[in-house]
Amino acid sequence: MNKLIAGNWKMNGSLAANEALLSALAQGWTAALQAEVAVCVPAPYLAQVAALKRQHAALSRLHLGAQDVSHQASGAYTGEVSAAMLQDFGCRFAIVGHSERRQYHGETDARVADKARQALAHGITPIVCVGETLAEREAGQTVEVVKRQLAAVIHANGHCISEIVVAYEPVWAIGTGKTATPEQAQEVHAVLRAQLKAASAQAERIQILYGGSMNAGNAAALLAQPDIDGGLIGGASLKAPDFLSIMAAAG
Ligand code: PGA
Repeated sequence: MNKLIAGNWKMNGSLAANEALLSALAQGWTAALQAEVAVCVPAPYLAQVAALKRQHAALSRLHLGAQDVSHQASGAYTGEVSAAMLQDFGCRFAIVGHSERRQYHGETDARVADKARQALAHGITPIVCVGETLAEREAGQTVEVVKRQLAAVIHANGHCISEIVVAYEPVWAIGTGKTATPEQAQEVHAVLRAQLKAASAQAERIQILYGGSMNAGNAAALLAQPDIDGGLIGGASLKAPDFLSIMAAAG
């Protein structure tokens, strides 16, 4: 399957910075690139990025993504952005259950599962994030934690599960410069693949991304692992040369 390289801009960017970043990506984009590429941008910039995509022919294959989606369809939920709204702006992906949302916004496994369901109902592929904290890893709970997080999404979404993307993001590796070794990451990816296989006959085609300090230097080794089907890239997605190198490593 093609690899997927998804940038997670987090709460970064400005009209000027986004324009500069996307024009640098357009300049560096090679026609031979097979990998799928997405940028998950702050909601206020979705329209701008959609317009920049139309402006730069080289970005025709760039997918637009959001970083979150409401667990509700519409109504009195101040501050929320619905899946239908994301669909209106041509979003192909929405990150759900990022560890920063779980940690700072109290998102539970059940809430994350509802968000994934909303996305799927609107033709948006949820990028479902799972991952253990350092304390959980040291306590030997990594497998238990990631399986519990993914199980909630599997149970709430039934056969639609084949339409999701999973991102394994060890919390201790996010933004810290500490990357999981390719072997450490592969070990968890294999667990997630087995769990998906038990739930879906199509599990082989579900992309399982690695995220957590992936950069131009370590991407190739991570992406060479049999169950690592791409990357969810934070910091390095804000620098065009770095993001382009990771895209090139994905082939
Ligand atoms: P990072 O973030 O690449 O900056 O570690 C990854 C993520 O949080 O998605």
